[in-house]
Amino acid sequence: MSEKLIVALDFSDLKEAEKIVKKISPLVKTFKIGKELFTSAGPKAVEMVHSHKSRVFLDLKFHDIPNTVASACEAATKMGVFMLNVHAAGGKNMMISAVQAVHKATANLKISPPKVLGVTVLTSLTDQDLKEVGISKKVKQQVEGLTVLAKNCGLDGVVASGQEISIIRKVAKKNFLIVTPGVRPIWAAHGDQKRIITPREAVEAGADFIVVGRPITQHPQPLVAAEKILKEIEG
Ligand code: C5P
Repeated sequence: MSEKLIVALDFSDLKEAEKIVKKISPLVKTFKIGKELFTSAGPKAVEMVHSHKSRVFLDLKFHDIPNTVASACEAATKMGVFMLNVHAAGGKNMMISAVQAVHKATANLKISPPKVLGVTVLTSLTDQDLKEVGISKKVKQQVEGLTVLAKNCGLDGVVASGQEISIIRKVAKKNFLIVTPGVRPIWAAHGDQKRIITPREAVEAGADFIVVGRPITQHPQPLVAAEKILKEIEG
């Protein structure tokens, strides 16, 4: 079960992030490095996690012209990350270029390719927000359509909120990863997360990985919090 838990290192200070990794890496195997830590610390953040024999989900949500995204994916692959992501709204050519770049880089380096995930619709966006940017579809339809596109482009999975797991599983039944953030154990504060789901509910609904940040990183005993979450998943 510990393979399923990804802890979000939402820090701007590398030392703070390392304190958490040191405390919980005996149990947790994967850490998410997002824009905050990567913009502050750069590739050193990835090296730090690797130095504790743990894996990195590089959550930089690439979205640009295909050539630029391919180069960014190649650079991430060379750092040896376990997972990375791109915006599915970047389109077919961009996603295909991302997957090709990852495979080309791993073939040269003789390492296994990182999982490439698509971000469908950010959970902060509503139907009205989509309308304002010229998308007439409802969020759910848009998530469904972008999931099919991401799968057809060869992506390994998507990042999806708890509410979207069932829609995604309907259109991508097998061999397609679902990584779910916005997860809150029953005992934890919700913070700014609104559409939350418990770790157990997420896994039961079909999530392959859950991403948890503050309930672990802000807990007085992060290892205890991680253990509690794993126990909750196992029931
Ligand atoms: O602290 P918390 O558990 O809320 O952290 C969740 C992590 O997952 C954060 O890094 C956040 O940016 C990310 N995330 C999210 N909801 C999404 C997508 C990503 O909370 N829909």
